Amino acid sequence: MIFYFSGTGNSLYAARHLAKATQDRLISIPAEMSSPAFSKEYTLSTDERIGFVFPIHSWGPPEIVLRFIRRIRFANYQNHYCYFVATCGDDMGCTRQILERVLSAIGICLQAGFSLIMPNTYIALPGFDVDPLEIQKQKLAQAVPELNRIANDVDQKSSAFRLHPGAMPRLKSYLILPLFKKILISDKYFHTTDQCIACGKCVRICPTNNIRMENKCPVWQGNCTACLACYHVCPQRAIYFFAKKDKGQYLHPDLLKYGKENN
Ligand SMILES: Cc1cc2nc3c(=O)[nH]c(=O)nc-3n(C[C@H](O)[C@H](O)[C@H](O)COP(=O)(O)O)c2cc1C
Ligand code: SF4
Ligand code: SF4
Repeated sequence: MIFYFSGTGNSLYAARHLAKATQDRLISIPAEMSSPAFSKEYTLSTDERIGFVFPIHSWGPPEIVLRFIRRIRFANYQNHYCYFVATCGDDMGCTRQILERVLSAIGICLQAGFSLIMPNTYIALPGFDVDPLEIQKQKLAQAVPELNRIANDVDQKSSAFRLHPGAMPRLKSYLILPLFKKILISDKYFHTTDQCIACGKCVRICPTNNIRMENKCPVWQGNCTACLACYHVCPQRAIYFFAKKDKGQYLHPDLLKYGKENN
């Protein structure tokens, strides 16, 4: 089984690619967690693989992924092969160590991990923006052979770690990430301009169903996981975070083909 979370579609694309190559079933983390009291035991078949696919959020796994793992258990787990694929714009810090600790707390041993460079989606702070179009195309093209290689490793159950921790990973994951969680995982910074045409695309794309349309205006409900999909999907560029800044938008080219139910 492959558990996945994706905001703007990069990780969904990776998860679907892996599922097709390995014939493993896909399970959406936000769909599983739609009830507030969520906790679940999954039953594993004898040779089943356990995969987690998600984007990097500030040099760690998204909070929703960690919360999910803390609330699940596996019946008949006997050292089943467990791996992760983290999609990121550049680098992932100590994501492997963070994930290892959370998995080991529920008795699971992480045996493989991969980072996959994909177009960047982080635009919220000064100095951050989407990649230029040419770089996006390059990253998407290079991801295909890398995903095939990962799928092969996963299929063979290889104990491989091919990661991009980047420079100063401990500083990023153990100092900046906690600050990010405390301050920036919040939807109170989202605003809309009068360019909004009430099309509802931001409502439909939100993986946590955190946006409601009230009087033809999107209203954020306080259950945000900071994926920025609502910002990137807006056809009017009517959503901004903090202050109005001329930042780019990006969605994985396949995302809208998949439909809401896969998000
Ligand atoms: C809140 C947030 C934080 C991010 N932090 C990082 C980061 O620390 N390192 C990095 O390389 N990319 C970072 N990114 C970029 C995403 O990890 C990358 O674009 C990812 O492929 C998006 O996946 P998705 O389309 O499945 O949501 C961040 C994106 C967001 C929205
Ligand atoms: S409100 Fe926007 S940033 Fe927050 S989880 Fe929903 S789509 Fe992602
Ligand atoms: S996607 Fe943009 S235009 Fe459409 S409802 Fe949301 S804010 Fe308004």
